[in-house]
Amino acid sequence: MTTIAQLFAKCLELARSAPALISILRIVSAGSRSLFAASFLINILIAQVPALLAYTGKNVIDSLLSQSHSPRFVGPLSVPIFFGCIYLCLLVAQYVGQVVLVHLSEMLTESGSKHIHTQIINSAIRMEGLYYFENPAFHNQRSLLEREALYIPMNILRFVTETSGIAVTTFCMVLLLFGLHPLIPFLILLSGIPDVITQKTSHRLIYEGIRETAHEERRKDYFRSVVLDEEHAKEVRLYNLSCFFINKYNESFKRILDLVIPIRKRHIRGSILSRVLVTLGAILPYLWTIGKALRGEITPGQLVLFMTAIVVIHQQMARTAQTLAGHQDVIYVMKELAAWLHMKPDLTAVEPTVQVRRKPYLSPRVRISNLRFRYPGSDRDVLRGLDLEIPRGKSLAIVGRNGSGKTTLVKLLCRLYDPAKGTIYFDGVDIRQLNLDDLRNSIGIIFQDFNRYQLTIRENIALGETPDVLAVNKVSESAAAAGAADFIEPLPQGIDALLGNQFEGGRELSGGQWQRLALARAFFRNAGLLILDEPTASLDIATEARIYARFKKMTEGKTSLLISHRLSTVRIADHIAVIEDGRVIELGDHESLMGLGGIYNEMFVIQAERFRQSEEFATL
Ligand SMILES: Nc1ncnc2c1ncn2[C@@H]1O[C@H](COP(=O)(O)OP(=O)(O)O)[C@@H](O)[C@H]1O
Ligand SMILES: [Mg+2]
Repeated sequence: MTTIAQLFAKCLELARSAPALISILRIVSAGSRSLFAASFLINILIAQVPALLAYTGKNVIDSLLSQSHSPRFVGPLSVPIFFGCIYLCLLVAQYVGQVVLVHLSEMLTESGSKHIHTQIINSAIRMEGLYYFENPAFHNQRSLLEREALYIPMNILRFVTETSGIAVTTFCMVLLLFGLHPLIPFLILLSGIPDVITQKTSHRLIYEGIRETAHEERRKDYFRSVVLDEEHAKEVRLYNLSCFFINKYNESFKRILDLVIPIRKRHIRGSILSRVLVTLGAILPYLWTIGKALRGEITPGQLVLFMTAIVVIHQQMARTAQTLAGHQDVIYVMKELAAWLHMKPDLTAVEPTVQVRRKPYLSPRVRISNLRFRYPGSDRDVLRGLDLEIPRGKSLAIVGRNGSGKTTLVKLLCRLYDPAKGTIYFDGVDIRQLNLDDLRNSIGIIFQDFNRYQLTIRENIALGETPDVLAVNKVSESAAAAGAADFIEPLPQGIDALLGNQFEGGRELSGGQWQRLALARAFFRNAGLLILDEPTASLDIATEARIYARFKKMTEGKTSLLISHRLSTVRIADHIAVIEDGRVIELGDHESLMGLGGIYNEMFVIQAERFRQSEEFATL
């Protein structure tokens, strides 16, 4: 009773997953519909061959025996030869069909996986903010899909062709077995049901296990990359960390295996029991058929036909169990893929939804009103009602302790996130109503962790521009303005020198030189608002002061935002805001803040003292 209820539930589950299956089928086959259709058709044709072979075989045997039993051996063996030829033709057709099917599947895998990879990437780059990109669940899902992407088309094709093939083959064999006894095919089919359920349950458990290991898989990959990637090579060698990380890698691997192997062992035990039952379901009709033949109730040809049909249906039951169990994996990956492809956009439109355009080079007046924000999945507000204003063409410096929310504010200004409450206005327009490209083109920014592209100096400065824009002098001018000309000019290839050491012929720059290129990149964009978010944290105070002074000079007349925790370098700004706990707690110019005797004054005195001591240390 429970078995039938379980089977019913499985059928319902299969029916429920049908829409997901169909929608993914459409996506997967979009790259190669004709290949998909051809594979499907060939498979249906091949699926009929076993029944035809059995039937033809019976005719060969019976016609041969009827000839040899006749008292006088009459004439040519035309009937058995005729059936024999058909038998051979069917065999050849089956082999040829199978070979063609293998090649079609491979072609489909190649074109389909390229298509799926592109869809996975397109879906991710559709996300305009950082909600997903800074979320570990997104990366777990991404690594699972990337791992599976190569196999998705192949698996789906296999699932669709195998189920249809099994259905056709079984149907034909059931028709043949009706001649023996109408109940026999059903007895064999029923005995296979526990196996189908066992296989399906085991595979579900295995897949749930694999899903649980997604996080550990990423940790494992991370430990491997620490040992192998250039990014970490210096520290790994200096601190002799290889063994430490390899141990962590092995531990991670072991945790994955500890989870998956027990499930697989249980799977083997369950499979053996259910397979014994299916085999019994086939042996009984088998013996009964032999008995009928001994009693002369069926011809030798029929005996071979029925025995073949019993064996084939038995095999089909095992295949059904395997395929439906495998279907669990396919459906699981397809559901993940469907969820990925239908990810909700991370930035929200506000009323009215009409986009406002703006000229990126115009300097905006920026007003930030009662801004509240917390990161997705976090239980703490990073910004708690922050108010600020940067008048058009003026500079504002933001200072504050690490973690006080400075970079977060910059991310909101660029709309990498939308605030939970409050609004940022550019010239009185809510930035959520601005055309996103216009907004981002209006901002020239150097992040704390700016990128170092393994490209030429010219490309590093004019990143993303077309070749004709790359050719103009503006690139050299931006480099000169950012103070990069003095290290570019002596290079043999000048501004076309390749940077970084990932590719042959590349030249590595110092931290300060990369910083100046990042500065040049921000200036090249000719954006109305320039932002410098502590890109100089690794530099000494004197170099940092020079970079800030250059930034100040280059941003004359432009709205600008400087962020630093070194107060000596932000004195140059028109206004200074001190942020603490996601709010502005002091605001004014350097003199007025010093006069206030608050946190700014206290931090400035401490830093000046530290600086004086380090100067004394340097002159010792
Ligand atoms: N992607 C993120 N997800 C969750 N919390 C974050 C994320 N980025 C930063 N935070 C947290 O937000 C707070 C403010 O960070 P941030 O704005 O980078 O500080 P600051 O730039 O002032 O040093 C910190 O407590 C930090 O841990
Ligand atoms: Mg920061």
